[in-house]
Amino acid sequence: MFSKYKKPGGGDGAQPGQPDLTSIPGGQEHQPQSKPRVMRRQNTSKIPAQAGPVDKEKKRKERLAEIKLELHKRLLDNLNLGALDTAAESDLRAEIVSISGEALDEMGVVLNREERATLNQELFDEVTGLGPLEPLLKDDSVNDILVNGPQQVFVERAGKLELTDTTFKDERHLLRIIDKIVSAVGRRVDESNPYVDARLQDGSRFNAMVPPIAVDGSLVSIRKFKKEKLAIDDLVNFGAFTEEMAAYLQAAVATRLNVIVSGGTGSGKTTTLNALSSFIDNDERILTIEDTAELQLQQTHVGRMESRPPNVEGKGAVSQRDCLRNALRMRPDRIIVGETRGEEVIDMLQAMNTGHDGSMTTIHANSARDAVSRLENMISMAGIEMPIKALRAQIASAVNLIVQASRLQDGSRRMVSITEVTGMEGEVISMQEVFRFQRVGLTPDNKIIGHFTATGVRSHYSERFRMWGYDLPSNIFEPFAAE
Ligand SMILES: Nc1ncnc2c1ncn2[C@@H]1O[C@H](COP(=O)(O)OP(=O)(O)OP(=O)(O)O)[C@@H](O)[C@H]1O
Ligand SMILES: [Mg+2]
Repeated sequence: MFSKYKKPGGGDGAQPGQPDLTSIPGGQEHQPQSKPRVMRRQNTSKIPAQAGPVDKEKKRKERLAEIKLELHKRLLDNLNLGALDTAAESDLRAEIVSISGEALDEMGVVLNREERATLNQELFDEVTGLGPLEPLLKDDSVNDILVNGPQQVFVERAGKLELTDTTFKDERHLLRIIDKIVSAVGRRVDESNPYVDARLQDGSRFNAMVPPIAVDGSLVSIRKFKKEKLAIDDLVNFGAFTEEMAAYLQAAVATRLNVIVSGGTGSGKTTTLNALSSFIDNDERILTIEDTAELQLQQTHVGRMESRPPNVEGKGAVSQRDCLRNALRMRPDRIIVGETRGEEVIDMLQAMNTGHDGSMTTIHANSARDAVSRLENMISMAGIEMPIKALRAQIASAVNLIVQASRLQDGSRRMVSITEVTGMEGEVISMQEVFRFQRVGLTPDNKIIGHFTATGVRSHYSERFRMWGYDLPSNIFEPFAAE
C-alpha cells in the first residue's frame, strides 16, 4: 500500500522505548518466537470478538485495549509522522482505516462495524491527539480533567467530581501523552524538571507533575478552555447571582471601582472576572496579565500578557510583576491581573491607587475579610516593611469592592457575597456587605436551598453611581423578604 503518510520502508517495529506488546496476537513478526505470550491461545484461529458470554465483557474490553495498543504501535511504525502536520484529516483517517484493517486481518481479529469505528477513532486520537484524554477534551460537559496516575482519571461535571473509566495502559503511556502536550508548547518535563504549567494550543490550562515527585504515577490537571465564556446573562440564568446584583456590578465596573474577585480553587473566579470585564466600555485600553492566558475580553482594545517561568537553566523568567511594571508604561486605562498571588500585589495596589481605577484581579481567599488578610500577607512576604496601619490604608484606598465566588457542596457556583471596602476605622479596614447568598437548608438530594438578598445597607458608592449616570433603584438594596 502506497501512502504519502507512510514512512519509506517503515514498519520494522521493535523500537526502543516502546511499550512491551508481546502479549498481542499477531505481533509475532516483531518478536522473537521464544518470548512468552500471555494470549498465545488466541494466536491461530480467527477470534470473533463477540464470542464470549456476557460476563466476559471485561476481558473483552481488555483485549480490545490490547489490540488498540498493538495497532497503535503499528501505526507509529508505518506512518510518516513528519507528514502528519500537513495531512488532511480525511486522508489520515482513510490511512488509519486501511492500516488498521490490514493489521486486524493479519492478527485474525474480527470486529463489528461499530467496534471498528470506535477503534479507528481512538487510533486517530492516539496518533494526532492526546489519546485517552481526547474524548474528555471534546466533551463539553467536562470542565476539569484530573489524572491521578495511569489508572485513575476524574472529571468535573457541573461542579461535581466523577471517576471515569478512562485509563492509560501504564505510566509510560501517560508520560508519553504528557510529553506530547508539553513539547508541543516548547516545554519539558522529566525527573530533573518534574512539574510543568502550560497553556495548551486550544487555550486549556495544563499542569503536570511526574514521578518521583508524584508518588503513584503522574498527576495531571487540565482546566478546559471554554470558547464561549459564561456571560453575565448565563451566570444570572445559572443562579450564580441575581439581575439586581448584575445591575450593581455593572455600575461598579462602569464607574471604575477597583474590584477583587475572591474565591477558592475552581470557584469561578476567572469566569466572574471575565464576565465583569464585559461591563468595561469598548473605547478603553485594557491590559491583561496572567500566568496562563485564560481571559477572553470582548473589547477591541486589549493587550494580553502571559508571564513565563524560568527555563531549564533557571533563566528567562518573566514574572507577573515584570509584566505589570511594564504595563504601567503602556498607557493602560485598566489593568486586569488574572490572579494576584505574590509580589505583584505591590504594583497592583499601586496601579489601583494611582490613576488606573477600574482595575481588577482575583485572589485565592474564602471571604472578603480573608481576601484583605491575604493582601496583607502578600505585601509582607514581598518584603515591604510598613506599619500595619499604613499598609491597611493602602489596601483600603486601593480596593473598592470584593466579590466572593464559591463552589458550594452541591457543585453549584455562586457569588456568595458582594462587599464594599469603605475606608478605615482606627487600624481596621471597614467593609460592608451589600449582597449575600442566604443559605436556608438542604433538599433530601443534597441540593442547597437558599436565596440571594441585599443586606439592607445602602451602597457607599450610590452617589458615585448616580453621578456617572447609573441611578440604581433604591429597592435593589432592600433585603429579600424571606419566607
Ligand atoms: N456560575 C457558574 N456556573 C457553572 N459553571 C461555572 C460557573 N462559574 C464557573 N463555572 C465553570 O467552572 C469552572 C471553573 O471556573 P474558573 O476557571 O472561573 O474557576 P477559578 O476560581 O478561576 O479556578 P482556579 O482557582 O483553578 O483558577 C470553569 O469550567 C467554568 O466554566
Ligand atoms: Mg482561575
